[in-house]
Formats: sequence, structure tokens, C-alpha cells
Amino acid sequence: MMITIQVLQVPSVIPEVYWDLFLSSVSEERRAQASRFIHQVDAYRSVMGEVLTRVKLSKLTGIRPEEFSFTRNKYGKPALINDANVQFNVSHSGDWVALIAGSEDELGVDVEKIAPIDLQIAERFFSSSECQFLAGKPEEMQQETFYRLWTLKESYIKAVGMGLSMPLNSFAILPHVQQQGEHNWKCNQAGRILSHRFYSHPLDEQHMLAACAARGELPTRPEIVTLESLYAELI
Ligand code: COA
Ligand code: MG
Repeated sequence: MMITIQVLQVPSVIPEVYWDLFLSSVSEERRAQASRFIHQVDAYRSVMGEVLTRVKLSKLTGIRPEEFSFTRNKYGKPALINDANVQFNVSHSGDWVALIAGSEDELGVDVEKIAPIDLQIAERFFSSSECQFLAGKPEEMQQETFYRLWTLKESYIKAVGMGLSMPLNSFAILPHVQQQGEHNWKCNQAGRILSHRFYSHPLDEQHMLAACAARGELPTRPEIVTLESLYAELI
């Protein structure tokens, strides 16, 4: 198995024939939840996260997309019942849905829409070494750096699967200089540098993407998936 990160840009309107098929491909719970959202875009993001997951897991396992059932751990992290060895994780924000899949070990992904923020809030969410790293950046880089750290931390929390019950200042994710001067993001927890791998890159001007894998190589870039290709896989 190879770890892949897939991203799907959700349009403001999904054609009805597509939407009907996508809705019929997800779980009863997801359909019920989708019907309760006030904003259609929230239903789109939620349903398309599951559609992306089912299509990818089908390719990885040979099981048909509609045959998967999922469970959640006590912190809400979804897992596959059919094959516990195939890990995945989903995130949705703004215009994008992201999926990481293809490992037997913990995976996490986070996409966040970049919006103007008060950088003071870093002090509430980040550990002191992360705050120092942020403060050391030139002012024009601080918003991007804030979102990098935010999504990286979230991708790690999501890989571990314990949600915010894991204190956000109990670990720090910072660039680590490797051989040949290459930078790699590494997680430092309780004085130890963990072997988890990280991916961090803007998706477009308004969205930041990060991913975390407990083991194995992460891809160098995400794979862009289209609504058309998902429709074709399901029909
Ligand atoms: N671990 C991993 N994945 C989880 C999860 C958990 N404990 N609980 C839910 N998920 C999955 C689900 O697939 C969910 O999508 P679904 O409900 O449509 O199935 C998806 O992750 C949601 O992720 P995302 O879109 O990135 O949402 P989020 O950023 O709002 O929330 C949480 C992520 C719920 C896992 C949690 O970490 C949280 O509450 N974060 C709050 C944000 C925050 O303060 N972050 C600080 C970063 S410095
Ligand atoms: Mg998120």
C-alpha cells in the first residue's frame, strides 16, 4: 500500500444527477445529517468526504464502494470495519475536501480555509517553542506560518485520534534540519522527536493543507480528484 493524499474542490452547485448518485452512495446517517444542514455547501462537504473515502477504499481493497461500514472511536475518529488494516482520515473546510489513505498505521489530514486572524490566539493554541518560531517570522509570513502550524498540529491530533483531549501545548511541530540542509516538519513530544512524517503546503491562496503519517512515506503532492471521476467510479 502507498499513502496518497487526495483533494477535491467542491463547486457551489453540484449537478442534480451527480448529487443524487453521491447521496445514494453514502450511509443512511450521512444522508440524514446532510438533510439537516442549513447551508447546502456543508452538506456537499460532508457527503463528498464520504464519497471520496468510499471510492479510494474500494480501489485499495477491491471491496465495492457501497459495501463499506464505518465505526468511530470514543473521540469520533472514523475507522473502517471491513478491513481494520486500512487507515484513512478526512478533512473539509472552505472549498476543499481532503482524504489521506493507504497505510496500516495512523493517518491524519487537515485543510483549513485561511481567514484574517488575530495572531494573539497562537498563545492559546501553540506551545512556547511554536509561538517563538511564529514570532521569528517576518510579519508578511506570519499568517501563512500560523495556518501551517495550525493544520500540522491538527493533522497530528487527527492521526492520534484523540481530538482535543490531547492538550495542544503538549507537543510542538517545527521544522527540523536534516542532512543536506533539507527541512522536515517533526513533532516533539515530552522531549522526544517522534518518527511521524508531515506534509504541509498551501492548496491554493485561501486554503492550507497538512497531513501526518505515523509510518511510511508521504507523497510529495496531493492528487486532485474531480466530481466527474467520482461519478464515473460509482455509476
Ligand atoms: N480524530 C481524527 N479524525 C476525526 C476525529 C478524531 N477524533 N473526529 C472526527 N474525525 C474526522 C471525521 O471524518 C470528520 O468528518 P465527518 O464528521 O464529516 O466524518 C473529520 O475528521 C472532520 O475534520 P475537519 O474537517 O478537519 O474538522 P475540524 O478541524 O473542525 O475538527 C476534530 C477536527 C473534530 C478532529 C478536532 O481535532 C477538533 O475539534 N478540532 C478543533 C479545532 C482546533 O482547536 N484546533 C487546534 C489546532 S492548533
Ligand atoms: Mg480541520
